[in-house]
Amino acid sequence: MKKIVQIILFVSVLAVVVSCQTKDKPNYQYMPNMYAPVSYETYGNYEVFPDGQEAMSPAEGSVARGWMPYEYENTPEGYEAAKANLKNPLPYTEDNLNEGKALYTIYCAICHGDKGNGQGTLAEREKILGVPAYNDAGRDITEGSVYHVTYYGRNNMGSYASQTTEEELWKINHYVMSLKHALNGDPDRTFVSSDDIETLPDNMTDEEGRTGSELNESASGYQSQELGDTRTEH
Ligand code: HEC
Repeated sequence: MKKIVQIILFVSVLAVVVSCQTKDKPNYQYMPNMYAPVSYETYGNYEVFPDGQEAMSPAEGSVARGWMPYEYENTPEGYEAAKANLKNPLPYTEDNLNEGKALYTIYCAICHGDKGNGQGTLAEREKILGVPAYNDAGRDITEGSVYHVTYYGRNNMGSYASQTTEEELWKINHYVMSLKHALNGDPDRTFVSSDDIETLPDNMTDEEGRTGSELNESASGYQSQELGDTRTEH
């Protein structure tokens, strides 16, 4: 008799314990710290942050690495001012042009076409309309207008500022202008020899945030080509 009572007791205790288990919910964690991180989770919601978001916008006045502030506003007036005044700070070297071509092929050719005639694959398949040729007389693009448009975007065309560095946009810029010359049948500019160029322009920064003037001072000097070479090795 005593044994039966013991068995019934044992079975009911077992039933109580087992019944706590559900397959729908996580079960007891014996060492929760092993599962839940102590730090804030990326993009998590936490009340301590403004807007309750772990991911915060950069503080006002922040300057992104590889960029200097761009002074022309995203307005029609800003566009006209950039078109008239802004010039490409990078020398027109063969290396800069070739790197510009590679970047152009990655980012722009899908709409604008390899020749810049507005006949990229997406334009031909009518996935995107109104892609102009670079020699479109009505637009009369300049180095400044091309930079402005690639920096801010324009109507159906997005901005490229988040995917490139300032330096890369200017390399693409050289290539776009050379396509424009080719479409017009104009002779292209003559190259500045790489030997004559040692540094970035003083007011530009490279990917590590070093300014051209710092690089000018450093003993090793700086060749535009070096940056290109290291990047392709990654
Ligand atoms: C998704 C397709 C698409 C891609 C990719 C694209 N563009 Fe465009 N681009 C357009 C369209 C559409 C327009 C016409 C915008 C308008 O004026 O309404 C345009 C216009 C332009 C213009 C003329 C702007 C003016 O001043 O009138 C330039 C220059 C230009 N693009 C350069 C580039 C460069 C450089 C890249 C690559 C970094 C690029 N585009 C990538 C679709 C694209």
